Amino acid sequence: MYRCAAILAAGEGKRMKSETPKVLHKVCGKEMVNHVIDIMRKAGIEDVNVIVGKGSEKVKAGTADRNVSYSLQEKQLGTGHAVMSAKDFLSGKTGVVAIFTGDAPLIKEETVNKFLAFHEEGEFKATILTSVIDNPAHYGRVIRSAQGEVLKIVEAKDCSEVEYKVQEINAGMYCFDIESLLRSLEKLTNNNAQGEYYLTDVIGILKNEGFKVGAMVTDFEETIGVNSRVELAETESILRNRINKKHMENGVTIIDPNSTYIGSDVEIGRDTIVYPNNMLEGKTIVGENCILYPNSRIADSIIENEVEIQSSVVIDSRVGEGTTVGPFAYIRPESVIGKNARIGDFVEIKKSTIGDNTKVSHLTYIGDAEVGKNCNFGCGTVVVNYDGKKKHKTIIGDNAFIGCNTNLVSPVEVKPNAYTAAGSTITNEVPEGALAVARAKQVNIEGWVEKKGLKK
Ligand code: UD1
Ligand code: CA
Repeated sequence: MYRCAAILAAGEGKRMKSETPKVLHKVCGKEMVNHVIDIMRKAGIEDVNVIVGKGSEKVKAGTADRNVSYSLQEKQLGTGHAVMSAKDFLSGKTGVVAIFTGDAPLIKEETVNKFLAFHEEGEFKATILTSVIDNPAHYGRVIRSAQGEVLKIVEAKDCSEVEYKVQEINAGMYCFDIESLLRSLEKLTNNNAQGEYYLTDVIGILKNEGFKVGAMVTDFEETIGVNSRVELAETESILRNRINKKHMENGVTIIDPNSTYIGSDVEIGRDTIVYPNNMLEGKTIVGENCILYPNSRIADSIIENEVEIQSSVVIDSRVGEGTTVGPFAYIRPESVIGKNARIGDFVEIKKSTIGDNTKVSHLTYIGDAEVGKNCNFGCGTVVVNYDGKKKHKTIIGDNAFIGCNTNLVSPVEVKPNAYTAAGSTITNEVPEGALAVARAKQVNIEGWVEKKGLKK
């Protein structure tokens, strides 16, 4: 059966007290609405429409790489009205639309799959996801008949005393037969406590017309919606635990899961050990048998097998097998570090490639450079890549030895097997096998201290 999805994301989220629309706030490094979109895609739904309103341009920008379509709800007149705004998206389609809210990122892929199957196999015109909780507070109540059939949903503010006590709540996640939904939306009124067009009223409308309406009960944790920063942190903590648990079950040692922050799309190989206070973000992939000592941030990077990283920052880069990084190294975007290399303390690498077995052990800056294999950088080397206007490139051949405190003024090339003397400022090409000495000759002025009256 044809399936599409509409995601409600037009609300402002007043209680977030933020310039950023609520659905763009991040949980485990990813915007809430993008969590929901990604889960829809994992459940096999390609055609996803995001209903935007408040902060629509920002929400569009924040979801730009997700290949979704948009509907605009100009005024926020309720969840039913929001879905009416997606009429152009839904009209003429036959099949199922899954409607989810953009502020509930904890729903699991397997639950969405079960929910879609439940809806289709039950041949319902509408199916709601529900859960049973002790304190149903502001949630819509699911009202069932004595036989257990779903009759309607009543919003907390519209409940009678008896209805208010019902503990089964509407999670705000639905499957609808598209044509039935469009027909029912025409019949909505805003004759209720909040003066809004409620999507939830569609359930009662369909039931009254004699159509089959279903409900699937699920774990409350998966349905939690975020309305405030406190709930954002609670949601983050639930998802973080879930992510960490998944990695541990896959064979990763996490020494202290409470202080380990792994984004939802990160992959980690077996027998890697993650020490406390590591943040692994974005599309990072960490190989097998790595040791991530404490206090690193690794974002959108590929870390091959058997790498050790300590107290460092690695962004949008690749680190080859067996290499060690840190403590206190900074590997900036578009860098590629070879295998069995060493990027040591207080070393910054920017948009450079470093060959296999090359050692850059301490206090060095390498920017816009191509460095070969088996090179050695002495302490305090600086690639002078910026002339105040433009960035230039430095090329260093295999087996080169860069003496301590060398400045390599770009553009410049050090050919393979060449050496630079400590303290040299290199401005011209160093030929293969040569030693470049580019510093003033030492002069000793005998007796100078005594003559100046400085002798102690
Ligand atoms: C809604 C449900 C309630 C359910 C709860 C679950 C209705 C009437 N009520 O209540 O039964 O228990 O979710 O969390 O649907 N939105 C729009 N446009 C609007 C209004 C809302 O896009 O005009 C979006 C919001 O951005 C949000 C979602 O719809 O993502 C839910 O809206 P919200 O106002 O939070 O609904 P609740 O009162 O929580
Ligand atoms: Ca809500």
